[in-house]
Amino acid sequence: MRLAIVLVAAALATSLPAQEPGPAPLIVNPRGRSVTSLDGAWHTIVDPYETGYYDYRLKPSRHGWFTNYKAKTPTDLVEYDFDTAPTLAVPADWNTQRPELMLYEGTIWYKQSFTRKPAPGRRLFVYFGGANYQTRAWLNGVELGVHEGGFTPFDFEITSLVRDSAPNDLVVMVDARRRLDAVPMINADWWNYGGITRSVMLVETPATFVRDYVVQLDRRDPRRIRGYVQLDSAVPGKKVTVRIPEAGAAATVTTAASGRAELSMDASKLARWSPDSPRLYDVQVITGADTIRDRIGFRTIEARGHQILLNGKPIFLRGIAMHEESLGSSHRIRDTGEQRALFALARELGANFVRLAHYPYSEETPRLADEMGLIVWEELPVYWTIEFDNPPTLANAKNQLEEMVTRDRNRASIAIWSVANETPRDTAPGGGPRLAFLRALIDRAHALDDTRLVSAALEHRYADPSTIVIDDPLGSYLDVIGNNEYLGWYDQPLAKAARINWTTPYEKPLVMTELGGAARAGLHGSADSLWTEEYQEKLYRAQVAMLQRIPFLAGVSPWVLKDFRSPRRPLSGIQDYFNRKGLVSDSGQKKKAFFVLQQWYRTLADSAGRR
Ligand code: GCU
Repeated sequence: MRLAIVLVAAALATSLPAQEPGPAPLIVNPRGRSVTSLDGAWHTIVDPYETGYYDYRLKPSRHGWFTNYKAKTPTDLVEYDFDTAPTLAVPADWNTQRPELMLYEGTIWYKQSFTRKPAPGRRLFVYFGGANYQTRAWLNGVELGVHEGGFTPFDFEITSLVRDSAPNDLVVMVDARRRLDAVPMINADWWNYGGITRSVMLVETPATFVRDYVVQLDRRDPRRIRGYVQLDSAVPGKKVTVRIPEAGAAATVTTAASGRAELSMDASKLARWSPDSPRLYDVQVITGADTIRDRIGFRTIEARGHQILLNGKPIFLRGIAMHEESLGSSHRIRDTGEQRALFALARELGANFVRLAHYPYSEETPRLADEMGLIVWEELPVYWTIEFDNPPTLANAKNQLEEMVTRDRNRASIAIWSVANETPRDTAPGGGPRLAFLRALIDRAHALDDTRLVSAALEHRYADPSTIVIDDPLGSYLDVIGNNEYLGWYDQPLAKAARINWTTPYEKPLVMTELGGAARAGLHGSADSLWTEEYQEKLYRAQVAMLQRIPFLAGVSPWVLKDFRSPRRPLSGIQDYFNRKGLVSDSGQKKKAFFVLQQWYRTLADSAGRR
């Protein structure tokens, strides 16, 4: 019964009506120009019945909470006040800030005030690094628009709304409810961290500015840089200069009527980026009064037969999967330091590759991977079952893809865009709505960025008791095949691993994107008993032996670096609402299996002569 109520409630929450005002086109690399951070303590009101919004919608005479209305007379009834309301930290999930919010998935209102008036002729935007899940924003009582999606950035122009006479009130309503028509849908194996989980900043720009740019090696001719610079408006004839001072490279191009200028530059003096040598260059994009600074690495990535080539040479991806959740307190990662701690563990494991499951992380994270020399698999939260036959759901997934790729396509570390994880294979003729939905995402990803590989984590099937085949029809449209397998955990007995043969009809690289099993850190006992570190260790030994027998394997990212919170894992005394498949515990305690994988990666690194 309870589930039915939940499902009905979820079904009642519909996707955004098409006419809703959306964000402005995304500003790429806002921190490459002068910004003002709005991070810190925001006043907040928990609103489980959305009184602050629907009350107003039903009775316009009332003062919706987004107006931040103050009583004018002693009998002027106002039943909310942000300025006396408690605060929550931004960026941060709300769940781990107050015990009573740990399982809260409704609406919370945030209010921050700032004084700022852009200089004459300049423009002002408010930029959100991300907020989970649906976000509606107002400035001084005027609605800016609504954004759907919990993990990608969005921005609104506020130039004409800022007032210089009094503080400006930015009011933001974040609704974390899971919905049947959403992306992801209502079932996921991770904690549904709600709130403004990424940084918020004011971005000031000249009247005409560079909104987007791509400066990457030409995949077909790596001696050249190929890309473009896009102004925010359709201004033809504007000169734009791209400069890479350390390489003595520069090019000046002119915008077409669209405000876009194609870029082609000599790259012969540029050192290539790689995990062993993560070389980054200062890049300046200059037009008129606008200069943006970025740090960009240059490398090529391609798939050839069963191999992945980095800078033209085969590379085996020694990886690990993770969630965007901190060590210790286990909350949505809030800053680069917390992410660096996870990447340092991955480096200690001997990894050169990280699968950032199952959604885009903060934009600082691929930049950190650029710096640390980790190759990245970045993924859309098209997870398990999605309403594949629902056009607004596809539009939502496409928008999140667009925001992810637009934000990160200058990051050398990102090699693979993943459009899905473990979506159920559709046996309908032609693959049904699921295949059509995912093909649309694959095509869009290639159109947005033809320098990277597109993949998805698939599932396999048994052709017979000792033969596994990876032949999901989706594989025909992918550049790299991802596959999740749990031999020795969900797929017993572990002994099978010694005799299983893996096959695939695809002449494409395979990355085993998940494998593993759980252990409670510190629980020791028989290697035949689930949940002991000894069993997990034995599982990893058997898995490593099996993986080495797969001739078309190009990489692995075992599940998972660190135990992480999940509402689906209640086993008391063992899980306690944590998924325990981590190679380290939530506090970072290494389990015995950590060293099995580390040993294999060291052997692989030595044999490849790589770090
Ligand atoms: C799936 C899924 C993961 C999940 C894992 C598990 O493969 O992709 O998100 O956490 O299995 O069951 O632990």
